[in-house]
Amino acid sequence: MEEQPLYDVRIFCCVNSRDADHPRGSCSRQGAIDLHGYLAARLQHWPELVGRVRVNASGCLNRCEWGPVLVIHPPGVWYRYRTQADLDEIIQSHLAGGAVVQRLLLSAATAASGDKGRRSGSRTGAMSQRGRSRQR
Ligand code: FES
Repeated sequence: MEEQPLYDVRIFCCVNSRDADHPRGSCSRQGAIDLHGYLAARLQHWPELVGRVRVNASGCLNRCEWGPVLVIHPPGVWYRYRTQADLDEIIQSHLAGGAVVQRLLLSAATAASGDKGRRSGSRTGAMSQRGRSRQR
């Protein structure tokens, strides 16, 4: 007999923190800790999702330049988000409605497009030796 999973969906929100001068930045520096708390609280307002969706704070997901980022399993859809409104849209469209939010999608194509996220300049460029040695 196949066991039922504890949750239908698990969301991993990166809340990793790094020093302000780290070349890759970090999701926590982009507001991820507060936004993670907002997402967890907002899900309680969706009775059909309570008990089915688990939100976890995670360490670095290695997409720092596009942060804050989260990944929804299954099926493994990645999003970059910035605001509470972005998270509301992910809840309403993706979690409740089953439709991917295209405008927030972080795909391999996005990563390869040269769009280095919302940060500017050198933080997303080649890392210095100092940056590499300090990277977590
Ligand atoms: S710090 Fe969030 S993905 Fe790396």
